[in-house]
Amino acid sequence: MKLFEPFYIRDLEIKNRIVMSPMITNLASPDGYPTDEHIMYFVRRSSVGLIITEYTYVNRIDARGSPNELGLYDDSLIPKFARLTDAVHDNNSRIFVQLVHVGRKTRKSLIWGNTPIAPSKVPLMDEVREMTEEDIDRVIDDFASASERAEKAGFDGIELHGAHGYLIAQFLSPAVNKREDKYKDGVVFLDELIKEVKSRVSIPVGMRISVTEFDQQGLNPELVNKILLRVQDKLDYIHFSAGRDGPLGGSSSFYYKRLSYLEEAKIARNKITKPTLLAGSILTLEDAEKALEVVDAVVLARQILAEPEWPLRIMNGLPIRPCIRCNQLCRLLSTREVRCDVNPELGWEIFGLERGEGEVNVVGAGVMGMEIARVLAMRGFQVNLYEKENKLGGQFNEIRDPYKKSEFFKLIDYYEKELNRLGVKIHFNSEVDQNNNNKKENVIYAIPKERQPEFKEYKGEKILVNSNLYAYQDYVFEWAKYNEVYVTENTFKGLDRNRSYLLREKYNELGVKIIKDQINADIVINDIRKNQPSIGDSIARAYWLGKTYKLSH
Ligand SMILES: Cc1cc2nc3c(=O)[nH]c(=O)nc-3n(C[C@H](O)[C@H](O)[C@H](O)COP(=O)(O)O)c2cc1C
Ligand code: SF4
Repeated sequence: MKLFEPFYIRDLEIKNRIVMSPMITNLASPDGYPTDEHIMYFVRRSSVGLIITEYTYVNRIDARGSPNELGLYDDSLIPKFARLTDAVHDNNSRIFVQLVHVGRKTRKSLIWGNTPIAPSKVPLMDEVREMTEEDIDRVIDDFASASERAEKAGFDGIELHGAHGYLIAQFLSPAVNKREDKYKDGVVFLDELIKEVKSRVSIPVGMRISVTEFDQQGLNPELVNKILLRVQDKLDYIHFSAGRDGPLGGSSSFYYKRLSYLEEAKIARNKITKPTLLAGSILTLEDAEKALEVVDAVVLARQILAEPEWPLRIMNGLPIRPCIRCNQLCRLLSTREVRCDVNPELGWEIFGLERGEGEVNVVGAGVMGMEIARVLAMRGFQVNLYEKENKLGGQFNEIRDPYKKSEFFKLIDYYEKELNRLGVKIHFNSEVDQNNNNKKENVIYAIPKERQPEFKEYKGEKILVNSNLYAYQDYVFEWAKYNEVYVTENTFKGLDRNRSYLLREKYNELGVKIIKDQINADIVINDIRKNQPSIGDSIARAYWLGKTYKLSH
């Protein structure tokens, strides 16, 4: 399989063609060094050939974008980063650091009260200051000094973050670079930056770039190709991604196509002779093989959050826990560490599972019951899983949104295969009543604290949905077939920007009207929640139940 053949970035051999994408996690300390949790999170994923760290700020003045982001702004951090690179190397993988200056894409509060800087005074969040030539020299020096520290800390390479509308992209993108001096041509800045970094380190240096910024004014594949042809001689690899600051960013939800940016990458990589990497909804072996027809290595982001052992499981033909592209728990990074709705272990890799022994009966084969059964079986218990219906999935079986359904059901397939592999005995059409009159020992009832509302059928009605519950977002797909359906803006409350934007598009296609104010209707649904039952909640509760379960309970 080509996926498991080594490839080279300059003279650096990388054991396979699977790369872990840079992802901010907030697992670093507030000072910007990797914690034990952070290191273990990477170690668990070291069956990839190459790990690229999350974006890592290069100065403690104006470069940071997230509260607990890695930072390489001072020599005192070198030993702390060496703990990370040593651990990854000891687990036989390579590790690059992704260096960033966020430019205008930050808030004053994240950059120690300073004013965000940018090539031009085009504000995004807070007010911004246009960079002087001194600022430009300072920032280039910050990148180069951080690169020197990275080399001393044992990193195998440097990735300059030139994608997603951060500072380098702000120079390159005609949408936001409005300068009148020589830096009007953003490649001048990029060129100076790469030259300075390369003059100060001997490890490979590559760059991430967005193949499209999803608007008329911004970067597009043709423009990106022109930029790359001007700088590729100085770079050791090129990493394709997408997005700037609009809703169609680089992490596309289940409403967007897979692979997300393959066509754009084909254009952007024309006549590029350096190794190329591509990210964007690569979830399966088939996705990876398709991407390898265009680029040299595949980059996994959310899928490697969902399934840390993706390469090993692919190699051994084992079931893979799929990322369902819900963009829920992994997108709450302004106030949370990274978490994943389908992988409750994410961020807790530091704790293993304690061995157990004996027989346990789990009642209910929704995701909660299946996850409890999985964890108990992993611990060594013999597990019986009872379900009153004749199929797995519980509330999943009520999903009406076709896009969601096709992606979410892969999770049920995974559980079915994994539970079989782990020897869990599944009993369908089996009631075990909550009063335990059937007298089973060691019973766990896998009943979520709260459930989503059940589907009701309507025909020929005028329906108003004023609710952010996932279930109602779904049911609109079915109701729109036979009714006149209106939804308020509240419907999209709490959804990440990509999912919200694309759901609006889907509703428009179905003729569902999105309204600001409430109207009279035959059926009115008013139910707005701050917290609502979710897959992530059920699976996380299940994980902790299974992990801490003792037979004497
Ligand atoms: C939790 C999270 C954090 C991210 N942080 C970064 C980052 O620090 N640097 C970066 O270049 N991209 C970042 N991204 C974008 C991903 O690296 C990747 O390009 C994108 O999610 C598409 O890949 P996927 O479809 O496999 O998730 C992040 C994505 C996620 C989900
Ligand atoms: S939270 Fe959802 S989108 Fe994010 S990694 Fe997990 S399954 Fe994928």
